[in-house]
Amino acid sequence: MSVQPGDIRDDDRRPPVNELLEVAQHGLGLKPKRLPSWLFYDERGSQLFERICEQPEYYLTRCEIALMEVHAGSIADTLGSEVRLVEYGSGNAHKTHILLEHLHAPVSYVPVEISPEPLRQSVERLAGEFPQLPLQPLCADFSKPLRLPIPPRAPRRTVLYFPGSTIGNFENHDAAVLLRKMRNEMGDAGGILIGVDLKKDPALIEAAYNDRAGVTAAFTLNMLARLNREIGSDFELSGFAHRAHYNPMAGRIETHIVSRHEQQVKVGRAHVSFRADEAIQVEYSCKYSLEDFAALAARAGLAVQHAWTDPARMFSVQYLVRAGTVAR
Ligand code: TRP
Repeated sequence: MSVQPGDIRDDDRRPPVNELLEVAQHGLGLKPKRLPSWLFYDERGSQLFERICEQPEYYLTRCEIALMEVHAGSIADTLGSEVRLVEYGSGNAHKTHILLEHLHAPVSYVPVEISPEPLRQSVERLAGEFPQLPLQPLCADFSKPLRLPIPPRAPRRTVLYFPGSTIGNFENHDAAVLLRKMRNEMGDAGGILIGVDLKKDPALIEAAYNDRAGVTAAFTLNMLARLNREIGSDFELSGFAHRAHYNPMAGRIETHIVSRHEQQVKVGRAHVSFRADEAIQVEYSCKYSLEDFAALAARAGLAVQHAWTDPARMFSVQYLVRAGTVAR
């Protein structure tokens, strides 16, 4: 009983225009200015992000895929049979393909994605590649409580799959809150399979967020283009620049949109002033040691049952279960 790609359940949690305007005005009124990173992912933003993943400097995707190719069998064994796989922020779902190929008799696959078009496309492709697998796409914001569709048969466990180091885009406290929410959603027997980028030479990390082809810069500035299109603001894109620096104390990349000169921008009825070099903070990408991440998991009542890494220890995929239930 394969769900047709047309059957995407839309929880209608995407923001209407007035909400988008409020979000932008609120963020640009803060000191320092700050815009939420989900604003990146309109259709063009999602396309640019896929291109970031192909850049030679962006090691994360390559390392994670290589790691999955080597360890998918062992990961599938750890997850066990008859899993319901729920993916947070499924995007183009390439890594998922590798995992699904190895899973033992999965019950269903539930991609959760806020952007409807990438969700539709990935479901259409997966339906062709895995005709036996029930697909239950959900168009929703995974950071909010989810109403998961009823599975076609009872799974042995629900595994929340969260690849791509997206957890790193949450500050420590928020990451713990999200993991705690996931812990509730997966149930007693459930687990979380999560991609976590590791600490390493800061030059390598910084290069990943400043690719030479300028795709990351285009991705960052697309946020302003999106606001112009959707709420009618008048950001002049050539007046702003992308900046991404590694903060070694905090262990994270800090991405900003920087005003190249003094200027005023109209956002709805508000006029927002920028000083020369004034920055809008748009994204953090936290990097973890294995110990750091185990400590974060513990704060959310979770324990690391297994951590897989690539040979160069650039990236990790980790399996978390409720603390006190780790199989030895
Ligand atoms: N989750 C990705 C990461 O932190 C998202 C990302 C990649 C990103 N490049 C970016 C976010 C540049 C903002 C700016 O690696």
